[in-house]
Amino acid sequence: MSPKKIAAEKAVECIQTGMTIGLGTGSTVYWAIHKIAQRIHEGLMIRAVATSNGSEQLAQQLGIPIVPFSEIGQIDLTIDGADEVDAHFDLIKGGGGALLREKIIAANSKQFIVIIDESKQVDKLGRFPLPVEVVPFAAELTIRQIRDLGCTPKIRTTDGQTYKSDNGNLIIDCDFGEITQPASLTARLNSIPGVVDNGLFVQMASCLVVGYKDGTVKLEY
Ligand code: 5RP
Repeated sequence: MSPKKIAAEKAVECIQTGMTIGLGTGSTVYWAIHKIAQRIHEGLMIRAVATSNGSEQLAQQLGIPIVPFSEIGQIDLTIDGADEVDAHFDLIKGGGGALLREKIIAANSKQFIVIIDESKQVDKLGRFPLPVEVVPFAAELTIRQIRDLGCTPKIRTTDGQTYKSDNGNLIIDCDFGEITQPASLTARLNSIPGVVDNGLFVQMASCLVVGYKDGTVKLEY
């Protein structure tokens, strides 16, 4: 079994009947959504809110009851992936472009479980370029201010076209090199007018589930 699948399935064991579940986005969460669907068919009763149109569609196809953001109060448990995780459980997320909804869901969850394979664990964040979501209007002005913080910004494209998030915004992938002060960087980025949010999730994860190539899985708190 792949390390991503092992981590995802372990995290799904934490779900109990009656819970409202946040569904993250990405290839690791893909396995979690499938496992949740399997448990629902075995009798688990939950409802879920999704962090992306892709996760919502997959969940609906598999029979997971989805409720819209507007109908959600608090979320009991969210399961999501990450692009990098450091020793303090600070994360870079947004490789799949879903960072805004992911952060809103995580911030409103009692428990935020991060599922990764071992390759995502790093000493310092920053090898993975930090995704920053910006409104398309006056993007160049916003990008100039982001660059002034000391990074090389690149507008994300897909198949040669400018990538748009589910919210209709641009994603700017920012190479800051090693990120030594994630809390300060996230505050400085989010204070730039035109920045919607960035992919640094600082002190938000409650638990890390790591899948290894040798087939083992480890929970870290
Ligand atoms: C999407 C994300 C994903 O959780 C992150 O990119 C990890 O993806 P994967 O599980 O495919 O490696 O933040 O915006």
